[in-house]
Amino acid sequence: MAPDAFNSQVALVTGGGSGMGRATCLQLAQAGARVVVADLSEEAARHTLSLMANPEHHLALQVDVTQQSAVERVIAAARDRYGKPPSLLVNSAGVMRTSPFLDETEARLDRVINVNLKGTFLVTQVFIKALLEGERGAVEERGAVVNIASTAAKVCPPLMASYVATKAGVIAFTKSCAAEMANKGIRVNCVAPYVIATPMTAGIGEPLVREYCNRSPLGRLGRPEEVAEVIVFLLSRRSSYMVGACVEVTGGAVM
Ligand SMILES: NC(=O)c1ccc[n+]([C@@H]2O[C@H](COP(=O)([O-])OP(=O)(O)OC[C@H]3O[C@@H](n4cnc5c(N)ncnc54)[C@H](O)[C@@H]3O)[C@@H](O)[C@H]2O)c1
Repeated sequence: MAPDAFNSQVALVTGGGSGMGRATCLQLAQAGARVVVADLSEEAARHTLSLMANPEHHLALQVDVTQQSAVERVIAAARDRYGKPPSLLVNSAGVMRTSPFLDETEARLDRVINVNLKGTFLVTQVFIKALLEGERGAVEERGAVVNIASTAAKVCPPLMASYVATKAGVIAFTKSCAAEMANKGIRVNCVAPYVIATPMTAGIGEPLVREYCNRSPLGRLGRPEEVAEVIVFLLSRRSSYMVGACVEVTGGAVM
């Protein structure tokens, strides 16, 4: 992506303190966006900022995406700093829990639903309301949203019932929201990655890593940067005719 591709557009990335969120923040910053790195861990968000060429152009903020008031504070802070609300959004905050279905607890189920599904919904709603505030009529491209689903929502492996349910919800939410927002100049899409080497998957153990690698014709796990490339493309005007798409990034493991 050219260094001025985003021409000082403000981008909000939740979960920007780690994994695919961090990789996306770094690529957006390289492509000229002003990046609001928002994460449950402020320290992690700050660390992402420290990896950028011009950290003073960007912002690191603590947020819990499950709390509407916290999300509203982030949008307000971005507006204060840049004089305009963010026009690009990546919902990368997420949690994964594996558990036999019959052992899943209500507390764990609530957490997975609240972060992955409610969080994606709430952040998108607050972001779009701020973007549309005071604006009248249709413009060709006002902003773009990318959500992160998962190929797990398609394959639906065992021990992941709560997680796959939320990710299937993210895909359905993306499509409905996209259909409603396209004529307001806001494109909404999602990516569905296969297993990506991030802190989320770091603890899965060598035998499972080998099994996942063997399922991909490339023989390896994905890298966060490889998903970030697709996310950044979906945020850019180069994907101007893509609306409600769910782009699989799988190394051929799921076709
Ligand atoms: N890693 C994979 O194999 C994989 C595959 C498919 C989809 N995904 C999805 O991609 C997204 C990013 O995953 P990752 O692998 O980069 O994970 P990660 O664990 O490296 O990063 C997730 C980030 O989200 C943040 N977060 C968690 N709860 C939050 C909350 N309530 N509010 C704000 N931030 C919060 C964490 O602090 C962390 O920095 C997630 O939605 C995940 O479900 C991951």
